[in-house]
Amino acid sequence: MNIILLGPPGAGKGTQAAYIKELKKVPHISTGDIFRQNIKEGTDLGKKAKEYMDKGLLVPDSVVVELVEDRITWPDAKNGFMLDGFPRTIAQAEALDESLAKTGKAIDAVINIDVDFSVLTERITGRRICRKCGATFHVKFNPVKKDGICDICGGELYQRDDDKEETVIKRLNEYQEKTRPLIEFYNKKGVLININGQQDIDAVTKDIEKALK
Ligand code: AP5
Ligand code: MG
Ligand code: ZN
Repeated sequence: MNIILLGPPGAGKGTQAAYIKELKKVPHISTGDIFRQNIKEGTDLGKKAKEYMDKGLLVPDSVVVELVEDRITWPDAKNGFMLDGFPRTIAQAEALDESLAKTGKAIDAVINIDVDFSVLTERITGRRICRKCGATFHVKFNPVKKDGICDICGGELYQRDDDKEETVIKRLNEYQEKTRPLIEFYNKKGVLININGQQDIDAVTKDIEKALK
């Protein structure tokens, strides 16, 4: 199954992906995570992406499309994949369609996690991530047992560079302007699944599970 997770920054894409990848046995491909890994390693791709990410802007389509086109040909994606944070523009979505069509593939489901803008800033500024295993927590909505320490692996928690309030506002603007039109794009194709993201994490997971059956 080829799945896309759609939704504004902080909607819960990464959080839900951690469950769906086990459920559907597909790799979780997050363009944001790939960029952050490259920034950490100091690669050319990382340097380029950082210029945009720090400002809360989208990385240029050409850079992202090339990256994903390659990633979905890896052996682990042979029987399906789950894209998180891609596509984010109509141009990216069209490029993805073209690329999949070459091998007779298509997108089967687009999960649109719908959350009101008013709660997103609190979700994002309270997010904490494990440096070691990448697990996502929240100071209020998904707290760890021991302050600053990952429940899963004992790693140290950190806050993303672009999770500052002023950058979050820019990210939300980029979403409104460039990514939101994808809801209609996939609705027209008949693959859109709307999920109410404004419930407990578990309730959201259950709704997605049901929708993907
Ligand atoms: P990316 O890393 O994809 O960030 P994003 O889209 O802004 O989304 P987030 O990761 O912030 O949110 P999420 O939906 O994953 O939420 P999460 O599960 O963590 O992209 C970063 C940057 O990279 C972009 O700004 C851009 O520059 C660049 N980029 C990436 N892809 C690109 C592309 N295709 N094209 C161009 N540029 C690209 O949850 C958030 C918090 O809320 C967590 O703390 C979590 O614990 C909590 N939470 C989750 N669910 C719930 C719930 N139901 N109730 C209460 N709290 C919850
Ligand atoms: Mg994420
Ligand atoms: Zn961890």
